[in-house]
Amino acid sequence: MRVALIGYGSVARAFVSLITGQRKRFPFRIAGVHTRRHGTAYGSPLEFGPAATSVGEFLDKAQAEVLVELSSLEPETGEPALTHIREAFARGMHVVTANKGPLAHAYSALRDEAAARGVQFRFESTVMDGAPVFNMVRNCLPGVRILGFSGALNSTTKIILRAMAEERTFAEGVVEAQELGITEADPSDDVDGWDSAVKTAALANVLMDAGVGPDDVEREGIGSLTADDIRAAREAGEVFVLISRAETLPDGRVRMQARPERLAVSDPLATTQGTSNVLLLHTDLMGTVGTISIEPGVAQTAYGLLSDLVDITRTL
Ligand SMILES: NC(=O)c1ccc[n+]([C@@H]2O[C@H](COP(=O)([O-])OP(=O)(O)OC[C@H]3O[C@@H](n4cnc5c(N)ncnc54)[C@H](OP(=O)(O)O)[C@@H]3O)[C@@H](O)[C@H]2O)c1
Repeated sequence: MRVALIGYGSVARAFVSLITGQRKRFPFRIAGVHTRRHGTAYGSPLEFGPAATSVGEFLDKAQAEVLVELSSLEPETGEPALTHIREAFARGMHVVTANKGPLAHAYSALRDEAAARGVQFRFESTVMDGAPVFNMVRNCLPGVRILGFSGALNSTTKIILRAMAEERTFAEGVVEAQELGITEADPSDDVDGWDSAVKTAALANVLMDAGVGPDDVEREGIGSLTADDIRAAREAGEVFVLISRAETLPDGRVRMQARPERLAVSDPLATTQGTSNVLLLHTDLMGTVGTISIEPGVAQTAYGLLSDLVDITRTL
């Protein structure tokens, strides 16, 4: 199966390395890579030349069956990934992405467009870096309705709050997160809860058919928490964690929140530290089930993309 890539940042490089290293086990080949400022490459080995004049030109020339979309997140609109995905659908290509923006802004439209074209649209790596969430629900929870979810999904704020609990400053926590390479391009997107709001909307749209956007999430960042707040929580055996929540209301609407909560240290949502994440799904037939990912990195995000490709081959 020929794979075209848009974006060649840290995730795309890890993905190419994984595909190359696993060439004997999986039938995937890189047909081309298109970037914003670093040109376009076709074939193997990858050699970048002048950029294609448009994404459409790149896709036409790459002649791939699937687009792996790995451009930067634009949380307020979901672009340019949204347009790239539609360009691929229009050419009868399957799409895999790690970019959560399109899910948060236009999931149901993209799902319907993919179905109308008879192609697959997959996105396991958008939330929790490749740990099974969407594919677990699709493949392991048939017939189940997701009534709500709760998760500790933002690593940067965990690093900052841990630093403050260790009597370091908020700013020192931001620097530590930046040094780990896990902050959004603008760390205020993490601190203000915006990254969590986009993840919450993406999860609600896919798992609960909520038809919402990030602006519909009740959002509060961690910026107003003081060293005294953190100390008082610690002395009570509790911690602050930025939590994403969604619940189905009696009238069928979905209420979503992304805000710091003070939790007992034994609470499952408080047990992951640093870059580790946890998501609990509250269901009608299976009670509460969850996924925990311990210190994931780009290798796990790359695996999530591979798992989507493998899952697509099962549908063919
Ligand atoms: N990093 C992670 O751990 C992680 C985990 C889960 C999901 N994600 C998501 O995965 C995606 C990729 O992440 P990353 O960390 O690899 O990002 P990155 O290192 O910032 O790389 C982004 C890539 O997108 C390209 N790009 C941006 N706009 C473009 C456009 N209009 N047309 C073509 N290419 C464009 C950039 O090209 P230039 O280099 O030429 O500017 C760059 O190669 C993001 O949506 C991110 O939110 C990342």
